Amino acid sequence: MEQIPAHVAIILDGNGRWAKERKKPRSFGHLAGARTMLQILEDADELGIRYLTVYAFSTENWNRPKAEVTALMKILRKELTDAVERSMKNNVRCRVIGDRSGLDADIREAIANLETATKDNTGLQFTIAINYGSRDEMTRAVRRIAKDVQSGALAEEAIDEACVSSYLDTRDLPDPDLLIRTCNELRISNFLLWQSAYTEFYFTEKAWPDFDRAELEKAVLSYAGRDRRYGGIREAK
Ligand code: IPE
Ligand code: IPE
Ligand code: MG
Repeated sequence: MEQIPAHVAIILDGNGRWAKERKKPRSFGHLAGARTMLQILEDADELGIRYLTVYAFSTENWNRPKAEVTALMKILRKELTDAVERSMKNNVRCRVIGDRSGLDADIREAIANLETATKDNTGLQFTIAINYGSRDEMTRAVRRIAKDVQSGALAEEAIDEACVSSYLDTRDLPDPDLLIRTCNELRISNFLLWQSAYTEFYFTEKAWPDFDRAELEKAVLSYAGRDRRYGGIREAK
């Protein structure tokens, strides 16, 4: 059981390519991706994963065509709203990380509503990264630290790694144990840079809409076979 990663983070990638292969618009791929998300939430919970964090929209994704951004926001709006009832039924606690000040007012409201409604749920801890970029997160944190030092609320000598972590959007989450990226891209694309210092990586060729429980189990199995040394040394297994 200790071989099950407590915190799994996923860069859900490949919705567009998946749709293109089927000669469908990219938004069709995003809709399919949202369905996959709901299934994987249940699978992760059943496998005993405690924290699941997914990258849904990056600070760089605003550079996409306006119609695609609108389609993505429409899906997020609906999913954030629908998530309340489902999460209450499944004891799932939902959080959102990222700069929500850049989101439409109604989406901000849906987020606040979802977070408040599910705040006492003790099951799977589900975090969605929306308008999230790790550099942006760290920049916002540095600003707040500077402000607190300036006002005297924080002593300069009190700034250590734990303190920095406590200024990040992920302050309530442990660092990810396993980071999965789908659709054959071998990069991190500005996701959880600070938090993934010692995270194990798993890459799969499967596009996100095709990602399933079998693939999640493969990732978990791969993780279980790793030797996490954190810079130290360990006897060979
Ligand atoms: C992931 O799929 C979803 C988001 C980034 C919002 P993509 O839309 O990046 O799909 P590809 O990578 O273009 O295939
Ligand atoms: C990363 O995927 C962002 C999300 C999954 C939300 P992208 O598709 O935007 O990343 P790049 O552009 O291929 O690096
Ligand atoms: Mg992509």
